[in-house]
Amino acid sequence: MEELNKRGRVFNESDIPAMTKRVYARLQHALDVKELRSLFLPMLNELQSVEEHDPAKNEMRQQYCSNIVKPILCRAAVAWEVDKPFVIETIEVAPPKANEVRIKITHSSICRTDLGALTKPSIWTKFPIVLGHEAAGVVESIGEGVTTVKPGDHVIPVFLPQCKECYACKKNKTNLCDAYTKPEAKAAQNIPYTMRDGTTRFTCKGQPVYQFFATSTFSEYSVVPEIQVAKINPEAPLDKVCLIGCGIGTGYGSAVNTARVEKGSTCAVWGLGAVGLAAVMGCRNAGASRIIGIDTNPDKFPLAKKFGMTEGMNPNDYDKPIQEVLIDLTDGGLDHTLECIGNNNTMRAALESTRKGWGISVAVGVYWHDISTHAFQLLSGRTWTGALYGDWKSRDDVPKLVESYMKKEILVDEFITHRMTLDKINEAFDLLKAGEW
Ligand SMILES: NC(=O)c1ccc[n+]([C@@H]2O[C@H](COP(=O)([O-])OP(=O)(O)OC[C@H]3O[C@@H](n4cnc5c(N)ncnc54)[C@H](O)[C@@H]3O)[C@@H](O)[C@H]2O)c1
Ligand SMILES: [Zn+2]
Ligand SMILES: [Zn+2]
Repeated sequence: MEELNKRGRVFNESDIPAMTKRVYARLQHALDVKELRSLFLPMLNELQSVEEHDPAKNEMRQQYCSNIVKPILCRAAVAWEVDKPFVIETIEVAPPKANEVRIKITHSSICRTDLGALTKPSIWTKFPIVLGHEAAGVVESIGEGVTTVKPGDHVIPVFLPQCKECYACKKNKTNLCDAYTKPEAKAAQNIPYTMRDGTTRFTCKGQPVYQFFATSTFSEYSVVPEIQVAKINPEAPLDKVCLIGCGIGTGYGSAVNTARVEKGSTCAVWGLGAVGLAAVMGCRNAGASRIIGIDTNPDKFPLAKKFGMTEGMNPNDYDKPIQEVLIDLTDGGLDHTLECIGNNNTMRAALESTRKGWGISVAVGVYWHDISTHAFQLLSGRTWTGALYGDWKSRDDVPKLVESYMKKEILVDEFITHRMTLDKINEAFDLLKAGEW
């Protein structure tokens, strides 16, 4: 049987073992990871082309993948202990196991959730760990059974899985796939710091290094479950769309999906970091007529105006609670509010600033304690809700958000404040702590 592959080269079935043997022989002489990659990728792509013409070759390709993919040595920012600076280490990244994808992380950005995970002990982390969950990259290799991406694909790893098979995915009422929690966990917030089999693909100085959200993007290579990998338009600039993987997607979706902001409505957003700015953009794109940004740092206001904020308020400028100020200012309260900070006072203020009868307030900021309000706030018809990743389904919706950026429907470039290399990660976190990020 003779087939024509994508590049127009003619080859037949008997070529494949010969081709494989040739690559094996060359691999034995390959001295470094770079050479391994440059040998491996074209070969895998060739086999992929064969498979597209003849699915029976799939088995051969899987065997090829598992035989040939080797551990990679690369640099990563390892957090050895809680609240201590990262150390740039050479780590070993194991080959992807079944249903896993190894990704060359080309760009990663920082979310405040990474800072929280670094500075406070939590059920999210076990040290040493590689943090990072907002990134973009290129698939380097795939484990057995992976069908939705192949080496060379451009992808965004996402902290929320979308397996498309569990009860929650099939029910189609939420983006919270049941695979999000540890298999044994009952609590919805019990997020894994390992791969799904309870082991980790990272080793450093002879000991396992844990994988935050199973994404761990502060590393040159990472292994991520296939159900957390969104394949995106290869034309999209990876240095920019990496931001869609958490902050932008979260804030934007919290406005358009969770708060269901309506045309002509009044909105307020607490916290004008990346998440809050994206929420402001969501309110604007949904057609809100008034968008109030609330931040204790008024330096955030000029940028927020570019995203659609109509007025900025600093709660410290008033001698009464901000919710009372806002109720007066808006003749009874706002239609939609979004809290993008993560504390009891601001979550409560956001709820209590909405209008009785129909106001809806979305808690977006991460907070690990009880929150409270007077029961009558809810009895009088307000809705208090929240969401992870803006209610977007990770694998289905991330590629669509990337397309929205390509069509200039959402801003992304404007979120970038600094560009730094991996070895400057501690300085980057200092900027975030100082509110300059
Ligand atoms: N729900 C999710 O899926 C999800 C995803 C990503 C991030 N988060 C959370 O969203 C929150 C925001 O993340 P970010 O990266 O935009 O953070 P950020 O630090 O960049 O921004 C926070 C902003 O809030 C302001 N602020 C702080 N305290 C304030 C107060 N008391 N009153 C008014 N303004 C105040 C700061 O000046 C800053 O501008 C964090 O809690 C993060 O963990 C949630
Ligand atoms: Zn995040
Ligand atoms: Zn699922």
